[in-house]
Amino acid sequence: MTQDELKALVGQAALQYVTPGEIVGVGTGSTVNKFIDALATMKDQIPGAVSSSVASTARLKALGIPVFEANEVTELSVYIDGADEIDAQGHMIKGGGAALTREKIVAAQSRRFVCIADESKMVKALGAFPLPVEVIPMASARLIRQFAALGGKAHLRLKDGAPLVTDNGQHILDVTGLQITDPLAFESEVNQWPGVVTVGVFAHQKASVCLLGTSSGVKTLTF
Ligand code: 5RP
Repeated sequence: MTQDELKALVGQAALQYVTPGEIVGVGTGSTVNKFIDALATMKDQIPGAVSSSVASTARLKALGIPVFEANEVTELSVYIDGADEIDAQGHMIKGGGAALTREKIVAAQSRRFVCIADESKMVKALGAFPLPVEVIPMASARLIRQFAALGGKAHLRLKDGAPLVTDNGQHILDVTGLQITDPLAFESEVNQWPGVVTVGVFAHQKASVCLLGTSSGVKTLTF
């Protein structure tokens, strides 16, 4: 199966976690796009979704799925999203699509995080994928030096030759060369550096379940 087919497989499989009558939390990315397409087949059974990005909101609305603001909803039973990396404990690196802050917000208001990913995303230790960090633009040069002190090399993410601007009006640093041996401690530490909006390690908001697309079908991992 191609990677695209594996993404479609887990996107479809995630429907079993959507509770009829309840609003669902929806992430961002190419795997989630498959889930959104599958969700359209049950749009008459749910009030709608809380979305983690402008892109997912547009896709949901185009398929006739109502989108609620996060502030309109107290708690969600499930949040469904992809990952750039996931380890055997359910810790993840996210933010390849620059939506990490809103993703973490919606994940935090959800009782369960269902990660949908093809098997290339499963890793022994986090850190091979360049770690996305959303930052306040005026802090980026200092934060690049702060990551260098940890042995990391941080680059400002560009789009069409200019710094990429997130849905929140901020910038993204992508950091390579880090050893993330304790994801919980690492997330807590970096999140309190002045100028960091969100670090793309999801350890406090880790996955509860991972639907992993493999050549022999969907594997369900629980954490
Ligand atoms: C976006 C994310 C995505 O979940 C992550 O990048 C995986 O994306 P894809 O499903 O396209 O591989 O964190 O900010």
